[in-house]
Amino acid sequence: MNLEALARPEVLALSPYVSARGSAGADGVLLNANEAPRSLLPDEAWQGLDLHRYPSPQPGALRERLAALYGVPEDQLLVTRGSDEGIDLLLRVFCRAGWDQILETIPCFGMYRVAARIQGAGVVQVPRDPDTLGVRRDALLAAMTQTEDLKLVFLTSPNNPTGDLLDPAVLDAVLAQATDRALVVLDEAYIEFCNAGSAAQLVARHTHLVVLRTLSKAWGAAGLRCGALIANPVVISLLGRVMAPYPLTAPAIHAALAVTDPALRPAQAALLAELRQEKQRLVEDLRQRSWVRKLWPGEANFALIRVDDGPALVRHCAARGVRIRDFHGQPLLDHCVRITVGSAGEMDALRAALDDFGA
Ligand SMILES: Cc1ncc(COP(=O)(O)O)c(C=O)c1O
Repeated sequence: MNLEALARPEVLALSPYVSARGSAGADGVLLNANEAPRSLLPDEAWQGLDLHRYPSPQPGALRERLAALYGVPEDQLLVTRGSDEGIDLLLRVFCRAGWDQILETIPCFGMYRVAARIQGAGVVQVPRDPDTLGVRRDALLAAMTQTEDLKLVFLTSPNNPTGDLLDPAVLDAVLAQATDRALVVLDEAYIEFCNAGSAAQLVARHTHLVVLRTLSKAWGAAGLRCGALIANPVVISLLGRVMAPYPLTAPAIHAALAVTDPALRPAQAALLAELRQEKQRLVEDLRQRSWVRKLWPGEANFALIRVDDGPALVRHCAARGVRIRDFHGQPLLDHCVRITVGSAGEMDALRAALDDFGA
């Protein structure tokens, strides 16, 4: 599949900015980037960071670490400022304003359509099943056939806010339908919370598949703003043309390497086990509450419920210092509320707030 033919002609014609650190080594006497010769934070903790230097645009050690983590070759991986940046880059590289379109199944994560609208791309929305909130395979495939100038198909597994996993057979069908037309973007922000395998390794076989991973959820590092976009090297190279010269800060690179250090794997396993247990307690608790009209437990670190008055529940919890997310008014999500799984103490605070709701 000719992936370059999918990109905006302006991006193909562009002479990308060449940064000092991207074009030359970071060793020797560095007088090529108008930096200061030293930082103002001389103490031990900051010294190794070389804050006075621009960081590598794609730090080799972090790229290597994330590639090993996701089981893909390094040339298939772009380290990003979170998945949000990956989504934005895809829109800017592949969608011509006022012309090209993306497709999403709603309800889903809100940034796909926001990034598309900022870029001036059209957004085709395929509603999910109103009862299960799962993807409707035939409707999705039919919409793909009918959509002209379709460039990006966004799928999410597990999906936010419904929590459901994408059936691998649906992914296969979408990939087949998108061949020679569009990229298929599979957002796996929450994949570590469930037992399903990642599709990252399918990128080697399907040149038009893009997989998004992030350290924001299961790695306890949303504050880092660090993720990875896994795709064919041609796609990676196209995205690199529009990416900011130095997208990752030195402290973020340092902390991302620390968080993903193999020595912390048991700590991550413990975090996931704790969240799994709290999730189970949350789901059991919600099942007992008569005012919960519907529950979609899902496979991720949150649950979605429908109640009689969603905004009132959200206000009630907020008045008790507990923030949960109101989805009322979004398609198919009338009076729906999403609750993130937190620590045991946070879940106790939630339960206390729920106890006197409607009392
Ligand atoms: C499905 C999904 N994708 C991506 C993101 C954003 O990820 P990041 O923090 O890596 O930008 C979120 C955040 O809530 C999400 O729910």
